[in-house]
Amino acid sequence: MEEKKVKIGVFGCFRGSSIAKCLKLAGADIVAACDKNPDMLERIKPHLAEGAGIYDNFDDFINHEMDGCVVANYYYEHVPFAIRLLEKGISVLSECTANITMAEGVALVRAVEASKAKYMLLENYPYSAPNQEIARLYQSGILGRVMYAHGEYVHPMSASEHKHYTPTPDHWRNHIPPTYYNTHAFGPLMRATGAMPLTISGQSVCRPEINENTDRKCDALGLMICKMSDGSVFTFPGNASFAVHNTWYRLACTKAQAETVRFDEKHIRVAYNSYTTPEGEPSDKTYTPSFPYDADKASKCGHSGGDYYVALEFVEVLQGKREPFFDVYRATAMSSCGILGWRSCLEEGKMYRIPDFHREEDKKMYENDHLCPFERGNGLTPIPCTVGDITQQ
Ligand SMILES: NC(=O)c1ccc[n+]([C@@H]2O[C@H](COP(=O)([O-])OP(=O)(O)OC[C@H]3O[C@@H](n4cnc5c(N)ncnc54)[C@H](O)[C@@H]3O)[C@@H](O)[C@H]2O)c1
Repeated sequence: MEEKKVKIGVFGCFRGSSIAKCLKLAGADIVAACDKNPDMLERIKPHLAEGAGIYDNFDDFINHEMDGCVVANYYYEHVPFAIRLLEKGISVLSECTANITMAEGVALVRAVEASKAKYMLLENYPYSAPNQEIARLYQSGILGRVMYAHGEYVHPMSASEHKHYTPTPDHWRNHIPPTYYNTHAFGPLMRATGAMPLTISGQSVCRPEINENTDRKCDALGLMICKMSDGSVFTFPGNASFAVHNTWYRLACTKAQAETVRFDEKHIRVAYNSYTTPEGEPSDKTYTPSFPYDADKASKCGHSGGDYYVALEFVEVLQGKREPFFDVYRATAMSSCGILGWRSCLEEGKMYRIPDFHREEDKKMYENDHLCPFERGNGLTPIPCTVGDITQQ
């Protein structure tokens, strides 16, 4: 018997259009779309199911019948809409990040715990072919235990590219501290190892010249050092803007190192000590991993195919076949690293403990913590999005 198609709505149709295409390839019907910008509604049209609802406001959109919803509105406004969807029993696939204040993280976890619906973070970088292969190797045990891991997501933009993605001066991309957008650097390391962050300390670098001819106010990189639940240490510079555009991931383990090849995102390199090389294996090899399955569909999707696998995972979550890896606890832990990592940068590297929102004491500790670097209003307490240029002090 043919499986019933899951019905998905898309809220925010700029990024939402790309993910709609992948959800369709993964077998879902996109039954509704919402954006206040008519150009974005045009953009998503080719991916919509016949008779889909098209809305310019969330209040009408949320009444459309759907099993799940992609939340791809502004980065700093995911939680209020995600909570309303969860309260209505609609599962959420939230673009990153999960929450932008600690209080929002607590509210989101409470909403998921009270709902029958599922919550999943749309973190796609762990699902490129190289990152899936590094995860497979790590989980097979062949690399030994991770001691140190590093992830880099480096995305500098020219002034004109920045303007394209950041249409207004108050847009979130002008005010985002570099620690906040950490999921693309950190996510693949968490996905491969399963480890959770316990503590965080950060240092930020301000280079005003990278913001010239733009309305961008924020820092260039925020290096975080994280003690993990398996005893290892992870480092990642958040969303970094140094030259040049690339991603890089490295697991340094007791028996071997596995890493993506720098400036060559298709290859990985795996190297053992002479005395830890498994029988029949070369001690050092560089190769191009393939996608584990559905390569034809993945190659049609963005972010090195990662968008396809994350879409498929959400479809399978809605079908009850699996639980999401980036559930609300992992998602809010990554957001906590961004938020508390930024506080650490503003306080010269002070170490913060990352709360475990399974625990009521940890929820209580942060339920009224509204410190926020974005100009969103709504009773949030403003903090700077830059540590300032030391050469100007
Ligand atoms: N995972 C990835 O690789 C990836 C890539 C790009 C963007 N993103 C994420 O996607 C999200 C959206 O980013 P973006 O690049 O699309 O840019 P964006 O934030 O500028 O676009 C948001 C879209 O949502 C619409 N919108 C916002 N509030 C609305 C409201 N109340 N009602 C109706 N429409 C509303 C806007 O008109 C716009 O089209 C962000 O969280 C970003 O971090 C993730």
